[in-house]
Amino acid sequence: MQPTIHSKLPNVGTTIFTVMSSLAAQHNAINLGQGFPDYPMSEELTELVNRAMKDGFNQYTHMNGYPPLREAISEKIEYLYQNKINPDTQITMTPGGTYALYTALTTILQAEDEVIVFEPAYDSYIPAIEVNGAKAIMIELQFTDYSINWEEVRNKISEKTRTIMINSPHNPTGSVLSETDIEQLRAITKDTNILIISDEVYEQLIFDGKQHQSILKYPDLLERSFVCFSFGKVYHCTGWKLGYCIASEYLMKEFRKIHQFNCFTCDTPKQVALSQFLQKRENYLELGSFLQKKRDHFQNLMQQTRLRPLPTFGSYFQVYSYEGISDEGEKDFAKRLTQEQGVATIPVSAFYSSEKNNQVLRFCFAKKESTLEAAVERLIKL
Ligand SMILES: Cc1ncc(COP(=O)(O)O)c(C=O)c1O
Repeated sequence: MQPTIHSKLPNVGTTIFTVMSSLAAQHNAINLGQGFPDYPMSEELTELVNRAMKDGFNQYTHMNGYPPLREAISEKIEYLYQNKINPDTQITMTPGGTYALYTALTTILQAEDEVIVFEPAYDSYIPAIEVNGAKAIMIELQFTDYSINWEEVRNKISEKTRTIMINSPHNPTGSVLSETDIEQLRAITKDTNILIISDEVYEQLIFDGKQHQSILKYPDLLERSFVCFSFGKVYHCTGWKLGYCIASEYLMKEFRKIHQFNCFTCDTPKQVALSQFLQKRENYLELGSFLQKKRDHFQNLMQQTRLRPLPTFGSYFQVYSYEGISDEGEKDFAKRLTQEQGVATIPVSAFYSSEKNNQVLRFCFAKKESTLEAAVERLIKL
């Protein structure tokens, strides 16, 4: 007899991401759906990893992360956000941003707690909340600018609210939080027990001269926050799965208790390499303009199509509307685009917990120029 188990995530099945990827492969489509670059990562960083391995940095490093890397991150934060973060007590390296988010949620959630989540949302949030026995309270970002309705946040806060999750620059829409949003967040959380989890995996990938409103800039908010980052995303090496979390000492102490018995320590040679790479400021200061060029190029090319852009100010993504081209639902339209035009995208409805149809698709422009050009050539025919 096969033993039975009770699924911890009974509602999770095959996601649209898997569906679209296999459809893309089946139809030899250009894949602008998945959020990873198809261009090479920094040669300098690759060389540094090779050197670290040859120099023998191949064993477990410190549980909280290779100390010189934590110091380099702390220096970077002081330079960018004028805030002093203690590398010994406030920074922990993690195997990717998703793990950092998951660990933060696991650190603080008790059964029946509520977590405010804005949707469309990165797909790991809800399962990570539910696996911890807590409940996601969904609030829709306002269409079409995907801004937060703070009045609604106020209305949805209850005695059970444990944390609010924010994400800027935002996946899937490329919207970014403003100083006014931060003020609202401060007003809502002040003198409460509510914590903040801030997903900043696209930290440097911000455009048009906008300033990233990192929680790290605001010591009073950092006091109640876990701030999560991903090296994979910003340095164009998503397969590295390396990131980190920053929090106040009292929160980080608890975070590390979970981390210690989960992955314990992360990839050593890559941490050694990054500690050296971060010494050169241009290595992170140029990331935004590098990606903005791609966004601009893609947006210009897309003017030749009947798809209409919604503004994006950061991340790897831009949302386009097909209103006026078809009345189909997003999933059907995205599937047809893959099958008939040979371009794979992700329907934005995939990032909502319930049925949604704004007739918009997410395109990833973190691709080679030639990939973007070939895709648009196909989309012109639409
Ligand atoms: C908003 C957001 N958070 C977190 C992640 C995960 O980052 P990592 O690959 O480092 O786990 C992603 C990746 O797509 C993302 O889009």
